[in-house]
Amino acid sequence: MKGYTLITGASQGFGRALAIEHAKKSMNLVLVALPNSGLEQLSDFLTSNFRIDVSFFEMDLSSKKNCLRLYIEMKRKGISIKYLINNAGMLSNGLFEDMTEDYFLTQIKVNVATPTLLTKLFLDDFKTNVPSGILNVSSMASFFHLPRKQVYGGTKAYLLSFSKSLRKELKRYGISVSIVCPGGMNTTSKLCLQNRKLNHVSRSSILNPEEAARITLNDFFKGKEVIIPGAMNKIFMFLDSIIPAFIKNRLTANVV
Ligand SMILES: NC(=O)c1ccc[n+]([C@@H]2O[C@H](COP(=O)([O-])OP(=O)(O)OC[C@H]3O[C@@H](n4cnc5c(N)ncnc54)[C@H](OP(=O)(O)O)[C@@H]3O)[C@@H](O)[C@H]2O)c1
Repeated sequence: MKGYTLITGASQGFGRALAIEHAKKSMNLVLVALPNSGLEQLSDFLTSNFRIDVSFFEMDLSSKKNCLRLYIEMKRKGISIKYLINNAGMLSNGLFEDMTEDYFLTQIKVNVATPTLLTKLFLDDFKTNVPSGILNVSSMASFFHLPRKQVYGGTKAYLLSFSKSLRKELKRYGISVSIVCPGGMNTTSKLCLQNRKLNHVSRSSILNPEEAARITLNDFFKGKEVIIPGAMNKIFMFLDSIIPAFIKNRLTANVV
């Protein structure tokens, strides 16, 4: 049985770019996203252009029942998972007082509970497919404690901590755990529009999802722990480590 890569949130943006990058490496795929998101067309495209096996599942991953259904369906089809990419995520950029309870509760499920549960469900698959690995998609927002990104940043900080800790536990089995923390990417049309309005320095850090996916997978297959795609984002991280906290607080407070 050949190992597959399972990518959540593969219908568009970063997840779609990661799927195409995998296909270029002739790796079989399992793609998941919400219903009616064009996964069938993407699967057809990948199957016919790259001669790989692609299965797709349209489901809402915010539900525990659906995560279990996905796992059972994999077993029924005889698909074994070698790599898991927890990419599906709900973004947000707004004041906490304006967020609805339903939105942030679902966001916490999709960004935190689902990647944790999928990692647990497929643990035996990773063990039988070593060398194998898990790539969790966090964000640079996990480092910076930005206003307007309170819940989002918190969910991504969870992923960073979870991944670093789990990496130490799973190393002895030959299972690699990596975390990617992208800065801004031109994924949705809303984000493209927002990114165009940024100042010159911030705009120069924005990556296309294709570029970010290429860098990410290269580093992932080298077993890198924390992946920060893009030179400008690495500079931001360096500045963050040397700038005093009171200056950073003053700069980030302006975002409100
Ligand atoms: N874009 C950025 O600037 C940026 C920066 C840093 C980190 N990230 C992270 O990168 C990842 C991808 O971001 P993106 O910009 O590519 O997002 P996106 O274009 O909005 O894509 C999100 C993907 O997740 C899927 N998804 C969302 N909720 C789901 C649910 N309940 N069940 C199943 N699938 C679900 C979406 O499916 P549908 O297509 O069906 O809706 C879509 O495939 C996220 O984890 C995000 O936090 C993004």
